[in-house]
Amino acid sequence: MNRLTNKRILLGVTGGIAAYKSADLVRRLQDDGADVRVVMTPSAQEFITPLTMQALSNHPVHLDLLDTETESVMGHIELARWADVVLVAPATADFIARLAAGHGDDLLTTICLAAECGVVVAPAMNQAMWAKPSTQQNAQALKQMSISLLEPDVGLQACGETGAGRLMDVPDIVTAIAARFDTASLAGRHVVITAGPTREAIDPVRYISNHSSGKQGYALAIAAIEAGARVTLISGPTNLEAPERATVIAIQSADEMLDAVMSSITDADVFIGVAAVADYKPVSIENQKIKKTGEHSLTLELVQNQDILKTVANLENRPYTVGFAAETENVIEHARGKLTAKNLDMIIANNVADTSIGFNSDQNETTVITATAKEITEVPQPKMSKENLSRKLIELIKEQLEDA
Ligand SMILES: Cc1cc2nc3c(=O)[nH]c(=O)nc-3n(C[C@H](O)[C@H](O)[C@H](O)COP(=O)(O)O)c2cc1C
Repeated sequence: MNRLTNKRILLGVTGGIAAYKSADLVRRLQDDGADVRVVMTPSAQEFITPLTMQALSNHPVHLDLLDTETESVMGHIELARWADVVLVAPATADFIARLAAGHGDDLLTTICLAAECGVVVAPAMNQAMWAKPSTQQNAQALKQMSISLLEPDVGLQACGETGAGRLMDVPDIVTAIAARFDTASLAGRHVVITAGPTREAIDPVRYISNHSSGKQGYALAIAAIEAGARVTLISGPTNLEAPERATVIAIQSADEMLDAVMSSITDADVFIGVAAVADYKPVSIENQKIKKTGEHSLTLELVQNQDILKTVANLENRPYTVGFAAETENVIEHARGKLTAKNLDMIIANNVADTSIGFNSDQNETTVITATAKEITEVPQPKMSKENLSRKLIELIKEQLEDA
């Protein structure tokens, strides 16, 4: 299916080593039905020629702001008006800094300033450049200006280093752009998501918890919002910024999470349990800090927490219920077992023993196991950012709701 039929995409190319990938990006966007016009910064022209981009896009390439000839034909304001979305890929650190500072000192920054359609920026740079506080602050500033950021991928870079900074894979960029035009897919639906760890108090200063960062749950909340859903995010303690437009309920313990879920779920269409809920809690919470004694060992007695996913999945009028299985061995087998034992509609299995995926990382590699009345199907997903996985999962959930 052509996801971008009739869509006008203004592709901005800046001067990074990944500029060669923008040639492929033009083709892939066109393959999906888009009409693509290209704007290049002077630096970008040192990396890839305007002639290549002109031949691929079948349109003249726009290069200069202060050009009397082009300004009389299709100047910066017309280009900004023409576009349904301005996509800058790759975006250099310097371009991001200029955009964050509100500059309009070349054609591309001026178009971004003038654009009333959405602007999407896909950074690409050396991992140290991306990690610099100045770059991160500029990236945050773009988000606050409602400019979407396609987070760079992690991997081997042209400079020989490994880390976050690679341009997001071209097919994933196309999918992210297509998703912007598919916002009605969960319109009118209420999606309740749990995220992060829980903390089970032992005494007033200590607790039992786990390494869950909340990244996957928060990314799912953003993807569901982008898809038009009303989202309630019930979150344990994390260092993450609350997604705009979500109703966020902050909790500490599994019991508090259960209460928040039960009061939010009444009109929910979808429940996604991503939180790493503690299986056990101390039988009682000491009123005073437990003191060190002469004894060598201390025994804590634990009791099971109520299983939130299972409780929701077994409600009479239950929402479409999705769980995550973070396992360290026999991942698929355990996940299948959990799917049937808890009566879930879908489970996303991942191996948290691999530190490059799961818990604290920005990437995830999963298998989606779906149960319908007829069969259980397993679909392995390649390694991808948690944002892209989230968009995929929301798409899959939407399809399941439509089929139900
Ligand atoms: C060989 C080479 C590769 C570069 N690659 C990148 C890159 O991948 N990302 C980046 O942010 N800057 C990169 N730079 C630096 C930019 O080219 C430089 O900041 C330039 O001013 C960016 O201009 P523009 O973004 O306005 O087009 C590179 C420079 C050179 C010489």
